[in-house]
Amino acid sequence: MRLRVFSGTRATGRLHLGNYLGAIKGYIELQNDPQYECLYMAVDVHTITTPYDPKTLAVATRNIILDYLAAGLDPQKAIITKQSLIPEHTELAFLFASVVSVARMQHLPTYKDKIKQFPEHVTMALLNYPVLMAADILIYQASLVPCGLDQEPHLEITREIARKMNQLYGTTFPEVQRFTTPTASVPSLIGEGKMSKSIEGSYLNLTDSLETIEARLAAAPTDSGQGKVVPATGGVANLLTFVEIFEGQAKRQSYEHAYTTTGISYQALKRDLAKAIYQDLAPIREKHRTLTAKPHLVDEVIHQGAKRARALAQSTLHEVKEKMGFV
Ligand code: TYM
Repeated sequence: MRLRVFSGTRATGRLHLGNYLGAIKGYIELQNDPQYECLYMAVDVHTITTPYDPKTLAVATRNIILDYLAAGLDPQKAIITKQSLIPEHTELAFLFASVVSVARMQHLPTYKDKIKQFPEHVTMALLNYPVLMAADILIYQASLVPCGLDQEPHLEITREIARKMNQLYGTTFPEVQRFTTPTASVPSLIGEGKMSKSIEGSYLNLTDSLETIEARLAAAPTDSGQGKVVPATGGVANLLTFVEIFEGQAKRQSYEHAYTTTGISYQALKRDLAKAIYQDLAPIREKHRTLTAKPHLVDEVIHQGAKRARALAQSTLHEVKEKMGFV
């Protein structure tokens, strides 16, 4: 059997540059390596763990798949679909919930962040979020997960669940590893923290216009442009990270040199950087345009992907139910 790979993106709208650089580039690298069998999903069931709009959920989910395909995921090489079409994920998550303590879940940093962000929505689904994620991965016996650094606490839970299940019931779940891209944590455009859909102004979508990219970069905080030491954190540091990603290390070094000598013109830096980002994303915009004009293609990918994924998921679930004594 080829080694399995699983990853997913919550269906909160569109893919942003953080998703792309931190995760999707890894998805693509692995789908192109024939030693792996890859499954990539829009994880729409995870989306309901925080407040969401039922009127837009299906469209947002479809948009994630559309962006996946535009970014280079290939249904000939990977199984691409949406999580809710494979109800076995949620069934396995319930079985897994029996080997995880409530206290362990309450102490997760991601849970603590979310209950601060949504104090009115502290639900069982939110507490169970990482258990469902473990089920997503382990239902395919996947051992490799291309994702950003922020998912590491959830992968640790996945490893703990796999060990516990193997120990208690004699299942043979693998120990999952994170597959990382060179940019496992893509910074926010607005100074602190990481690029995130839930922080307005922090992100760029993959199909943003040049004007939008310019406007977002224009709002990125900077300083006087000159000093003894180039800042290691904050707005300037983040801009230099993007310069390195999109314009190369030599360009970054020339700005760093300018910072400690003649000074940087941030207006020129931001203008050149916006152009470089826009050009880099041109093939994605082009593909997105083509796919938008052929909606049936996306639906077909989702439908075919679900059929293939479901057969794999059913086989693991059956085995687990047998080992847990249901059969
Ligand atoms: P989500 O939807 O927040 O993000 C999707 C992927 O994008 C990565 N990512 C980033 N990487 C680097 N820098 C950033 N600023 C950045 N922002 C987002 C995330 O690490 C992720 O890989 N819990 C997951 C969804 C999920 C999942 C799974 C992932 C559900 N089941 C099973 C992997 C395997 C999440 O919320 O990702």
